[in-house]
Amino acid sequence: MPEVEITATENGPLKVTGPLTLTDVDGNVYDLSERGKAVYLCRCGGSTNKPFCDGTHSKTAFEAAERAVAEADSA
Ligand code: FES
Repeated sequence: MPEVEITATENGPLKVTGPLTLTDVDGNVYDLSERGKAVYLCRCGGSTNKPFCDGTHSKTAFEAAERAVAEADSA
């Protein structure tokens, strides 16, 4: 079975691939059939087509913290 993969892009959206269902707050399912193999979800808050990225992040100089941070030693 294929897995869902979520990848943070450089100062941009989250790229989501794999078998997924995207549902809004009211329980309505988004039609993803026209979006190909990947869905790009806005994480800058500026898209006029939320939850999808519309490229606004590149106009607003959005800076994301896309690097995973290792947990500090607890000892
Ligand atoms: S991440 Fe692209 S418009 Fe928000």
